[in-house]
Amino acid sequence: MANLSSTAIARSAELYDRVKRVIPPPEWATFAEDVDAILALKRSRNAVVLAHNYQTPEIFHGVADIVGDSLLLAREATKVDADIIVLAGVHFMAETAKLLNPEKTVLIPDLAAGCSLADSITAQDVRLMRQRYPGVPVVTYVNTSSAVKAESDICCTSGNALKVVESLGAERVIMLPDEYLAQNIAAQTNVKIIAWKGHCEVHELFTASDVRELRESHPDVTILAHPECPPEVVAEADFSGSTAAMSDFVGQQRPPRVVLLTECSMSDNVSVLHPDVEFIRPCNLCPHMKRITLKNIRHALETGRHEVTIDPAIAAPARRAVERMLAI
Ligand code: 13P
Ligand code: SF4
Repeated sequence: MANLSSTAIARSAELYDRVKRVIPPPEWATFAEDVDAILALKRSRNAVVLAHNYQTPEIFHGVADIVGDSLLLAREATKVDADIIVLAGVHFMAETAKLLNPEKTVLIPDLAAGCSLADSITAQDVRLMRQRYPGVPVVTYVNTSSAVKAESDICCTSGNALKVVESLGAERVIMLPDEYLAQNIAAQTNVKIIAWKGHCEVHELFTASDVRELRESHPDVTILAHPECPPEVVAEADFSGSTAAMSDFVGQQRPPRVVLLTECSMSDNVSVLHPDVEFIRPCNLCPHMKRITLKNIRHALETGRHEVTIDPAIAAPARRAVERMLAI
């Protein structure tokens, strides 16, 4: 066992060099064997790992082939050549990958990796909204089940929501289910937005007084907020954008000190890429994202569990809504 582990540590030395600022050596020693096994399994099973920006650094920098925000993961999922896609992220992301790759095997390492936004709305709720606002187009955030997407005209992500809303040429749009994202988009457009009451349990915890306190304690800090944060938080931030847009902002602007008002692993992952930037870290953990571990990614590749399947009657209209978004 000790030998196996030391061989794995030696083999992963180059990888470790990338993440050593955010993972202490004793912790890496507990990861190296699984990293080694996952890299070998990916080759033997012709599999790829797609990882969201909120995955922990040993996954994000250690075993992922494609990393990014929900939009990039959806786009890249359409280009994957492998037989198996392991989605290191939450269930709606795995469903989106499956919708776009019906012929491939899509695995999620833990079926319980959900999302408070996806849980906030059902297909029946969307049907009721349509009855209440006849003729008004429905834009659905990708953070929803396939059944909800199937009831929608088009999907959006935090990276393209404004573009999607404005692409419809409508005076009014129903935007589901994230109330804060809807309000943040409404502040940037003349389109009247009808929202739902869903919230992200991670981003709803940030407050405007958090932002003011941060500015008092770090006067030179640049504050970036995800658009799932409440509008008063976004209003006080210096920039708001998807997880990919926040990462790009740091890469392009190189602020000396930055705060990412979002999930905790984002700062770890982005700081690995930009060691010259200081990250102040008030952050909130997403318990669903954190269900994905090296151990269960390895288990998924070894056993083929858990395979994501979608009822074909739901998959066809849900795919249309996602593809319509990707065409924009
Ligand atoms: P992004 O699309 O910005 O990566 O956000 C996904 C998500 O779940 C944020 O909580
Ligand atoms: Fe859902 Fe929020 Fe977790 Fe993203 S961070 S997966 S929106 S609960």
